[in-house]
Amino acid sequence: MRPFTLNDKIDDMASAFPYASSVFKHCQADVCSSQEDPQLQSDPGAEDLSAAPDAADVSYSLEETHPIDGDAMMESLVEAYDFFKRREGLFEIDWQHESFHDLIHHIIAVHHEYLRRELPALEGCMIKLKAIHGQDNPSFIPVLQAKFKTLQTDLEGHLSTEEQTVFPLILRYEQTGNPEQLKQAWTQLTALEADHQEACSLLKEMRMLTADYQLPEGACRTLKLTYQKLEDLEADMRQHIHLEDHILFARLAEQLNR
Ligand SMILES: [Fe+2]
Ligand SMILES: [Fe+2]
Repeated sequence: MRPFTLNDKIDDMASAFPYASSVFKHCQADVCSSQEDPQLQSDPGAEDLSAAPDAADVSYSLEETHPIDGDAMMESLVEAYDFFKRREGLFEIDWQHESFHDLIHHIIAVHHEYLRRELPALEGCMIKLKAIHGQDNPSFIPVLQAKFKTLQTDLEGHLSTEEQTVFPLILRYEQTGNPEQLKQAWTQLTALEADHQEACSLLKEMRMLTADYQLPEGACRTLKLTYQKLEDLEADMRQHIHLEDHILFARLAEQLNR
């Protein structure tokens, strides 16, 4: 069965499969702000440009002389999805039906560990970048570094709150069935969701600041590595937040409203 179809919304596909962003980017479709992207060419029959486009409503072109239609984009997307599914073996898991224990364990083992590994590595990249290019680009590099630093500090606090306070409450609730523990966890979810929104905003600002991570001619290795790591961070955060907001927290909301 194909995981995606031309009728799916681009934002939904990117949410379900974060690496889809790379495919869309290759096809010059901006997932985060698709309706604002001048590169998107709507189908002549599609009139409502304010609505999020689905894959069938848009055509993409790498170059004017080599148009890429929706079918070609879907082929690339399915290929990428199959590759990552084979490599990681994780996309087969339907987290809607796994225990909270397993879902939380997965979030910590995969996504929190990723952040603990990659945020310091990116911090090092930023420091090196400023040392190499700070003089050439006095307004650009320090702003990028400051936005990243804010994101790093925010996320470090966020991970601690989840691991030390909220996740233990959810696990105790799952063990005991005591609704008080669910209610206690619930009171903190709004703040966690606000943190997610703030992280998304900072990632988007960094993407805009770097013109979609387009490397300038003759870019040095440090800049290439920094941009690649920032794009990887964005993709991982997208999946991380999807698992928490749309699956973990949404399932808790269902149980609270029963
Ligand atoms: Fe998390
Ligand atoms: Fe989170």
